[in-house]
Amino acid sequence: MLPERPDGGGSTQLDELVKGALVDALAGSDASPATLVAPLSAPLDAPLDAPLDAPLDPLARGPFDLLGVTERGGWNLLPALMFPGSAPVRGGASGAPRPGLSRDFPALDQQVHGRRLVWLDNAATTQKPREVIDAISRFYESDNSNVHRGAHELAARATDAYEGARATVQRFLGARSEEEIVFVRGTTEAINLVAQSWGRANVHARDEILVTHLEHHSNIVPWQLLCEETGAVLRVIPVDDAGDVRLDAYEAMLGPRVKLVALPQVSNAIGTLVPVAAMAQMAHRQGALVLVDGAQSVAHVPVDVTGLGADFFVFSGHKIYGPTGIGVLYGREEVLEQMPPWQGGGSMIEDVTFERTTYARPPARFEAGTPSLADAVGLGVALDYVERAGRPAIAAHEQRLMSSLVAGLSSVSGLSLVGAPAVRVGAVSFVMAGREPRAIGQYLNRKGIAVRAGHHCAQPVLRRFGHEATVRPSLGIYNDESDIALLVMALRELSSGRGR
Ligand SMILES: Cc1ncc(COP(=O)(O)O)c(C=O)c1O
Repeated sequence: MLPERPDGGGSTQLDELVKGALVDALAGSDASPATLVAPLSAPLDAPLDAPLDAPLDPLARGPFDLLGVTERGGWNLLPALMFPGSAPVRGGASGAPRPGLSRDFPALDQQVHGRRLVWLDNAATTQKPREVIDAISRFYESDNSNVHRGAHELAARATDAYEGARATVQRFLGARSEEEIVFVRGTTEAINLVAQSWGRANVHARDEILVTHLEHHSNIVPWQLLCEETGAVLRVIPVDDAGDVRLDAYEAMLGPRVKLVALPQVSNAIGTLVPVAAMAQMAHRQGALVLVDGAQSVAHVPVDVTGLGADFFVFSGHKIYGPTGIGVLYGREEVLEQMPPWQGGGSMIEDVTFERTTYARPPARFEAGTPSLADAVGLGVALDYVERAGRPAIAAHEQRLMSSLVAGLSSVSGLSLVGAPAVRVGAVSFVMAGREPRAIGQYLNRKGIAVRAGHHCAQPVLRRFGHEATVRPSLGIYNDESDIALLVMALRELSSGRGR
């Protein structure tokens, strides 16, 4: 394992420990930490002690600086650039997650191809802290039972644990009540649930559903299926050449036929932070509902669904240090109440006869069958973990890393970043002249560095920028400057022809 930086974040200097860590991590490489690190965020001829996290790009403002405090005291990202009038918040609880935090994640403590594993594939899935893994084991070891039925001790414990997790999600998202939290398998299932339940009941021929050009396929295909079924029309809000949503075009597209606007809060392919609060206000003025795909935002920026104005907010547990197989659909109570069931079965009914069934109230109405109990419990523990690390601190830490990442990648010859959004969160995509993204991914893998190479289930936005595939490093709570340094060094070797 790498020694941790002693400063707990906020450091602007490459300290000796990090240099030592790099020496360890670079074992077998011909690069020195000095040649590697100095240029990451500074001109190539800058001295070694140049600030590591000095932003080069004036637009690379940290999202922390752009956090707007909602009336309810929650946090929302309201990019001042796109939402004039929102007071930027500076100072407050910044800094970084506590030092030593990466040691909480057992999977990070391993070597891949003889090198320390560098996990930069967080947009695909995150690693899990020991306490999440332990909570899942503990559930099966001592509390395992089905929930909500049975009068015995373990059923009571399992039910308490499952409903306790729901309460944790409610607090984490700033929802008004636990009834607004539906457990599902993940983001994909949540969006399909809304499309099939709310959509079939409310969307009719010639109605319109708006999505952005940035979407993951999960926020395209369910709406296409609905449109095929109902005769409604799917329309695409364009992005500009930087990869930011064209708010002028969006405004022009909003009309009485628009029933739903489905937006990502953060693009999984190029990292664009979308001003969803402002866009939700605009949609609501026209009477449309808003679904926010929070798969790529919830682990990186503080989210308050009420302040955001989302009617639906969806995310997957596995992208926020929780287990796979569990995710969340938040739905505004009044909206969920009106929605018909999607799947039928046990647990979602009030009364069943062969002639007629009446349904339970939300959230049970939408949780047919035995839920993924242990995973829900694991998700609750993961959210507590993130809360303890401090969400504003995570956002600030990752934004500093993002500045280094963007600066470092920009210094690799032959490498082009895809898009240049005003605020980039979590992920960045790039291509390299004359090299296939997949081959770059495989080369990095031989260095122990995990990134994603491919279309990232976001073909439309990649094609918007002229690519079929890109390489996508993405950040998590446990990454630090040394991870970025190793990535940039490997890419420099590759671009200079030294890398094989
Ligand atoms: C923005 C976005 N939406 C939806 C999804 C789908 O998430 P899941 O596969 O966990 O359902 C992803 C996954 O990468 C994503 O990044």
